[in-house]
Formats: sequence, structure tokens, C-alpha cells
Amino acid sequence: MKKENQSDTPQAGGFRGSFSGKLGYVLAVAGSAVGLGNIWRFPYLAAKYGGGIFLLTYLVLMLTFGYALIVSETALGRMTKRSPVGAFGAFGKSVPFRFGGWINAVIPMLIVPYYSVIGGWVVKYLIEYVRGSTAALAEDGYFEAFLSEGFCAWVWFLVFGALVAAVLFAGVKQGVERVSKIMMPLLVILAVFVAGYSMSRPGAWEGVKYFLIPNFKNFSWMTVVAAMGQMFYSLSIAMGILYTYGSYIKKDVDIEKSTAQVELFDTAIAMLAGLMVIPAVFAFSGGDPNMLKAGPSLMFITLPKVFAGMGFGTGAGILFFLLVLLAALTSAISLAESGVSTFEDQFGFGRVKSALLMGIIMLVFGSASVFGFGALDFISVLGMSILDFFDFLTNSLMMPVAALATCLLVTRVVGLKRIAEEVEQSSGFRRKKMYCFFMRYLAPVCIVIILFSSIANVFGWITM
Ligand code: PHE
Repeated sequence: MKKENQSDTPQAGGFRGSFSGKLGYVLAVAGSAVGLGNIWRFPYLAAKYGGGIFLLTYLVLMLTFGYALIVSETALGRMTKRSPVGAFGAFGKSVPFRFGGWINAVIPMLIVPYYSVIGGWVVKYLIEYVRGSTAALAEDGYFEAFLSEGFCAWVWFLVFGALVAAVLFAGVKQGVERVSKIMMPLLVILAVFVAGYSMSRPGAWEGVKYFLIPNFKNFSWMTVVAAMGQMFYSLSIAMGILYTYGSYIKKDVDIEKSTAQVELFDTAIAMLAGLMVIPAVFAFSGGDPNMLKAGPSLMFITLPKVFAGMGFGTGAGILFFLLVLLAALTSAISLAESGVSTFEDQFGFGRVKSALLMGIIMLVFGSASVFGFGALDFISVLGMSILDFFDFLTNSLMMPVAALATCLLVTRVVGLKRIAEEVEQSSGFRRKKMYCFFMRYLAPVCIVIILFSSIANVFGWITM
């Protein structure tokens, strides 16, 4: 239990020394939360799973279930001063406790490899904008050709991975956080500008309506499954991250308020991304259903078309992909850091050995995800490409289980009362009743339904 003894000493490269105060904490959590999930993943899921009805489902889930889980994880982290494996272990040593801790700890290790593949796509686009290939990027079929060629995408994946590794090794995380303070407001300003331009294209208004106005005809079970997975992903819930962050804060951080701030910021960025991408689908392809269902490639296909039509398209492209790259880096670093510290704490490995191990995991799974679109495209796992499979495995299967583990820990073992006491150490717990209701009833029911729906969907027992 190394962590416990070190609870007040800043760790080299770790998060513990980096929260200068309440604002520092909110910024660090926001830096982890805002990433590719908001800018790349949210718009494509919203486009695919029903537009406005997806948005509505997402918002409801975030304000209820998501809120309760963030508060729980942060409070458990602060209470035990440990990251997930240790936090679960603090309440019991039997198998269910070990399982609960480990499932939370393993998820980031499985996400960071394929996250870095998409980070690589971002680096590639940034470089192409710098080289002035604005028109070529907007051509039909450009992105597909890039993906299926494989080797080039692999090199960019390595570049992104090397950036993450460099930051982890050099321990310059503080510097990165300083960058993210400047980057986030800039990202918002640029996103407002690009979204405004995208919405003003002829035909784009249909897309704005599709994205913002719920249409119950578009509702399916998959809308809920996807919205819940996205909520976990985007807010960094159910993957141990918030336990770890919670373990670094002092009693003066108002958990409720900081949770609300992070949720607000994260959702604002996701919605802006939706307003950049979805109206563009309608403007450039008249809302073609195939295009709406394009999946992971959507952002990389539509935004270049938007930039190509703009006066300062190349400049906007450079700035946009640079900011997305920074946002992706801060998130990837927090994912990788979480893996590294699990190795350090649980196996007693040194920092270098832990980082190397994380690097090997990234290399193996990441390479498989890259070549899943090229040389390995004959491999399909449950009908999905390798990258999609990792995304599905973590978001739709493992995260509900991890969230369920947290709910059970809170309701059955720790007790809602103790969590409330922890929150109340820093502020009045304004939404206590709501919190208890969600944890006790809503969350377990939601999670179990979602888990079974996603399994049933994969095996074709039900069509959604
Ligand atoms: N929340 C991040 C995003 O939206 C992804 C992430 C998850 C980052 C967990 C860190 C930890 O991109």
C-alpha cells in the first residue's frame, strides 16, 4: 500500500502534487474528460443513434446516473486515498472486491491503445493541413484510402504514442496541464466559430434540427446503450480514473460543485462538436443515412469539407486539429498514467518498468487496431473491426460492470451514509436525496438492462 504512506508527498510524474487548489482539480478532471470522446465520438454516435433523441437520452443520463457515479467515485477515492484496486481492497479482501477494483483498473489500459490510434489520425490531419493539403483532405474517399493503406496510419499511431510516452517519462505533466488551461478556452472559441460556419451552409439547418429536436421515431434500445457508454467514456466514469483523482484531493474541494462544473464543460464541448459535424453531413450529403451512420470516420470526413469551403480553411484546419491533438493528449496521458500507477502500486514495479509495460500493451493492441482496417481486415470480432471491438468491449460491456461494482460497493458495503458524510465534509450535500435514490434504484436497474441489451444485440438475440 505504497499510496497510503505517500498520501501527502508529490509523486514524480503522478497527479498528487499537481492540484494546486480547487480550480486546479477541476481543470485536471476537465483535462481528462475533454478529449476525443467529446469531439470525435459524441458526434458520430449522435448522428448514428437518432440525433435529438440521443442527445436527450444522454443529457438525462448524465444529470442523474452520471452525476451520482462521479460523486461516488470521487468520494470513495478521497475517503480511502487510493486508486481503484486499493479503494475496493480497503473494504474487503475477497474475490468480489478484487474483481471490482481490477475491472476499474484494467479498462483504461484497454482504451489507451485504440485511443492513440485515433490520436494518430488527428496528428496526420494536422500535418496535412500544415502542408496545405486542404482540398485533397476534403475529397471523397480520402480517409478510407488512408485507413486501408495501414502502414502510414501505424506510423502516426506511433508518433502519438511516442508523444504520450515522452510526457510520461519526462514527468512534464504539470506543463501539459498549464497548456490545457490555455487550450480549452481556445478550443471553445474555435468550436463556436466553426460550428457557426457549419450551421450556415445551405441545407445545414436540417442537421441542426436533427441533432437538437428529439424525434421519438428514431428511438431504439441502442440509443440508450450508446448514450450510456458515451456518458461513461466522455466523463471518464467507470474506469478508475475518478477514484485516483479523488484520492489526490483534500477535504476543501466541494465534490458536488466540481462535478457539476466538469459535467457542464464536458457537455458544452460535446454539443459544439455535434453542431460542427452533424449540420455538415446535411449540407454536404443532404443527410444521407449512410453518411449519418458512418461511425468513427465521420469527423474526419465531414470537417475537411467544412474547412475546404471556408475562407481561412487551412488556418482553421491547423488550429482545430492542433487543439484536438492537445485535448486528446491530456486525456491519453491520464489514461496511460492510470495504467502505470496501477502497475507501480499493485506489483511494486518501478516507474520505468511500469511505463514500459504500458507501452508494450499500447503497441500490441494499438497495432492490431490500426491493421484491423488494412492488412488484418479479414479479422472481425463479433462482426466488428478490431478498433470497434475494443471500443465496444470497454464501453458497452466492461464499463457497465465496473459501474455496477461501484454501485454495489456504495450501497451494500460502504453505505450511502458514509459517502454522504464524506461529501458533507466540504459542503452541504444539496442533492443528497436524489443521489441516494439514483444509487439505490436507478443505477443498478439501468446498468443491468444495458448490459444485457448490449450482449443480446451482439449475439443477435434481439435487434435494436
Ligand atoms: N474522457 C475522455 C474523452 O472524452 C477519455 C478518457 C477516459 C480520458 C478516461 C481519460 C480517462 O476523450
